[in-house]
Amino acid sequence: MTKLFSPVKLGAINLSHRVVHAPMTRMRSDDGDVPGDLMVEYYSQRATPGGLLISEGPAVGIGGRVYYRSPGIWSEEQTAGWKRVADAVHQKGGVFFTQLWHGGRMAHIDLTDGATPLAPSVVPFNGVAITPRGVFRASPHREIGIEEIPGLVDQFRRGAKNAKAAGVDGVELHAANGYLIDQFLLDGVNKRTDAYGSSVENRARFLIEIVEAIVDVWGGDRVAVRLSPSGKHGDVLDSNPQATFGYVAEQLNRFNLAYLHIIEPRIVGDHDNEDPSTQAPVAAASLRKIFRGPIIAAGGFVGDTANEILERGDADAVAFGRYFTSNPDLVKRLQRGLPIANYDRDSFYGGDRRGYSDLPFYNDVAM
Ligand SMILES: Cc1cc2nc3c(=O)[nH]c(=O)nc-3n(C[C@H](O)[C@H](O)[C@H](O)COP(=O)(O)O)c2cc1C
Repeated sequence: MTKLFSPVKLGAINLSHRVVHAPMTRMRSDDGDVPGDLMVEYYSQRATPGGLLISEGPAVGIGGRVYYRSPGIWSEEQTAGWKRVADAVHQKGGVFFTQLWHGGRMAHIDLTDGATPLAPSVVPFNGVAITPRGVFRASPHREIGIEEIPGLVDQFRRGAKNAKAAGVDGVELHAANGYLIDQFLLDGVNKRTDAYGSSVENRARFLIEIVEAIVDVWGGDRVAVRLSPSGKHGDVLDSNPQATFGYVAEQLNRFNLAYLHIIEPRIVGDHDNEDPSTQAPVAAASLRKIFRGPIIAAGGFVGDTANEILERGDADAVAFGRYFTSNPDLVKRLQRGLPIANYDRDSFYGGDRRGYSDLPFYNDVAM
């Protein structure tokens, strides 16, 4: 048996194998950003006994929306939708975590009910949001007033409570990929001079306050944090990622988290990093030396490399993103060494069943 298919305990969660479904926004919720039949079908297809699925990032409030038909987790209706997804995964014996997410300066007024997107600081940004009318540059953002911060923390707390009401097994805080929490962490985009900016202690304060709030709801051993210490997605940068993320990992030790989820430097958002010269060295292997709880590594893994990082001891489980889109039975394919189907980027974002929940399972008969 390879290590990938051996059991592992992440906080309060017992897994029977270490192949994890990475969080992936697919923009297929129903009206009102409610998870509906399509999402129930998608996650249910990918559930395996004792296998962890992490959901796409649902917005904790309407002001955090970046992608049309991406689900939310602020309303009762949305919570009921997540319950349907969680129930379907549980029926297959699977384990289900929902992410909690806010897009910050990447949002667009067509998605925020007209509210100006929020960010720690105003720093010009040319990235795009996906609105009902198509792909547009994110709307100009404004600086978050210090008095607004408790309200934002409360949105994450409400998301955590709704996730609990939906019966999921835990929550993963999306602090990666250039969205709101990452915008606070990184000195290239956080130019504040108050208690939430300048020093790394201050830049990490927003994250830590949110973690405190959701640990209060769930207990640490069902809470996780996702970081992209070398990430540039969302046009972000930090002058010293090792210092920033080393500090963050150290601070997170006190919460006894279920796991820390680290995106490897070879990935930028939903792409391979095509520019190796900009690859920074901060990865699961470096944060392993600082963070004392379980680690999930993500980014560009296939069966062999997943086993290698587990064997090296640099991670406890491995998340797969793009290959899970095209292989509903990825777990079985990896376990049996079956061919892995290539993914189709055109069907990643938005649409119907096509390229989402109509992908073929490997035909046993053809073996
Ligand atoms: C279509 C798509 C949507 C994604 N959405 C999210 C998301 O909602 N939250 C998140 O943390 N990462 C998101 N990611 C990043 C993936 O979780 C993962 O880190 C990335 O795809 C690299 O892993 P891979 O090489 O196995 O695909 C997304 C990636 C893709 C391809």
